[in-house]
Amino acid sequence: MTRSFVAIDLPDAVRSRLAGIGGGCPGARGVPEENLHVTLAFLGDVRDAALEELHDRLQAIRAAGFDLKIEGIGTFGGPRPRVLWAGIRPEPRLRELHKSVRRAVRGAGIELAHARFTPHVTIARFPSGLQAEPEGFQRFAAAHAGLSFGPVPIRSFALCESILNPGGARYTELAAYPLGS
Ligand code: 2AM
Repeated sequence: MTRSFVAIDLPDAVRSRLAGIGGGCPGARGVPEENLHVTLAFLGDVRDAALEELHDRLQAIRAAGFDLKIEGIGTFGGPRPRVLWAGIRPEPRLRELHKSVRRAVRGAGIELAHARFTPHVTIARFPSGLQAEPEGFQRFAAAHAGLSFGPVPIRSFALCESILNPGGARYTELAAYPLGS
């Protein structure tokens, strides 16, 4: 079994910039630069045969490359958020790619948890949840509310493995799939 997910890798300069922001968030643990990505589908533990089938189906996807724009920051997780993210402006070709990937995943017989897609890059995590928004966090959030940069060229996506270690997850690319022009 392989704990796996499908994601978009980001250019080094973008990851470096986002890691700098995530690393500066009070009360949070910044996501290491090499772990920053846009998740298209989280698959959990997948059997080798299904992963092979998925690989073939992902390879068969014909989708165009596109440019992304990073916009704003926010949190996920209800009253005690656990995740700080950088937002991604809605982009029709990203949504199309997301749909194609979900179709490929289901076609390979892999179950998917939920369908709602809120494109984002997780840039920091609050290990025990963000407590009643301390002043430091509000200042940080205000300073980055206007975050806006791009275009970020996206020309491929990837099938990745997530290895969980006590010190945090380590992600490895299993295969990359080019997007057309
Ligand atoms: P996110 O944090 O960027 O939203 C690899 O684990 C990726 O899969 C993570 O970056 C995470 O995306 C996403 N993911 C979605 N659901 C998950 C889950 N239940 N457990 C772990 N990762 C999950």
